[in-house]
Amino acid sequence: MTFLFNSDAERAKIFAAEFAGELPSLSFVTDAGSVDPAAVRYLLTWTAPPDLERYVNLEVLFSIGAGVDQFALDRLPKRVKLVRMIEDGITRMMQEYATLAVLALHRDLPGYIGQQSAGEWRMRPVRQATERRVGVMGLGNLGQAVLDRLRPFGFPLAGWSRSPHEIPGVTCYHGERGLADFLAAQDILICLLPLTPETRGILDASLFSKLPRGAGLVHAGRGPQLDTDALVTALDGGQLSGAVLDVTDPEPLPSDHPLWRHPKVIITPHIASVTQPETAAKTVIANIRRHEAGLDLIGLIDRDRGY
Ligand code: GLV
Repeated sequence: MTFLFNSDAERAKIFAAEFAGELPSLSFVTDAGSVDPAAVRYLLTWTAPPDLERYVNLEVLFSIGAGVDQFALDRLPKRVKLVRMIEDGITRMMQEYATLAVLALHRDLPGYIGQQSAGEWRMRPVRQATERRVGVMGLGNLGQAVLDRLRPFGFPLAGWSRSPHEIPGVTCYHGERGLADFLAAQDILICLLPLTPETRGILDASLFSKLPRGAGLVHAGRGPQLDTDALVTALDGGQLSGAVLDVTDPEPLPSDHPLWRHPKVIITPHIASVTQPETAAKTVIANIRRHEAGLDLIGLIDRDRGY
């Protein structure tokens, strides 16, 4: 039985060492050209290889990333389980990034960066954290972890997702019908939604208009969820006061795009959270053990929902 690892050599070394120690009977292979395709039971990759059909005995396809939108779900054989990456490294990094971004907007960092470039020493209006409502769209593993990390600051916290959730200390909204009420009550909105046909373009003019005037946006979901023209209009018109973006469409964002130089925007190049091989290998090994024991896999994708 073979585990085929299709990612960079540096990560491969770390995975290979973990696998050798924990699953010595599984053959760990990084060269797809040298493998007997029929022996491959597990494949870890970012995107599906074009010759996926040759792995006729493939049982589990592991995404090396937190998302699976890069796979054409309808083209994956039904018998193959698709699993997204849920691992401590990704989770911790997303907690850090969301905290960084929320605090940057809360303390008006874009405004102070503008003042710095103008050499202007001036205090800007302050608001207490207890007066700054923060809401997360997407209440999966990452959304919940982010809310948890934001809790000690004292922000009133809320969350919105497709299905109902109950999270202590977090006002939860759900579904189409809960969206407007949720948005009306957030001063900083964090998007951590998976990319699906339902969430594509969700951050548009209509959504921005439902937020309180002057709200901020943190986007660490997927680029195609954001209508960038609508964002620029909302920022220029004052409906939004600032945005921190880790994802854009396209990526990389073209160097002449107006968002790069917008005074109310901070952009990072899709680095909010990156799979950490040490912790990811442990998760994948645990999942293989679960699979072999007939247990549910952590991060198993529901093909109908798309996440
Ligand atoms: C990054 O965006 C990931 O999916 O891990």
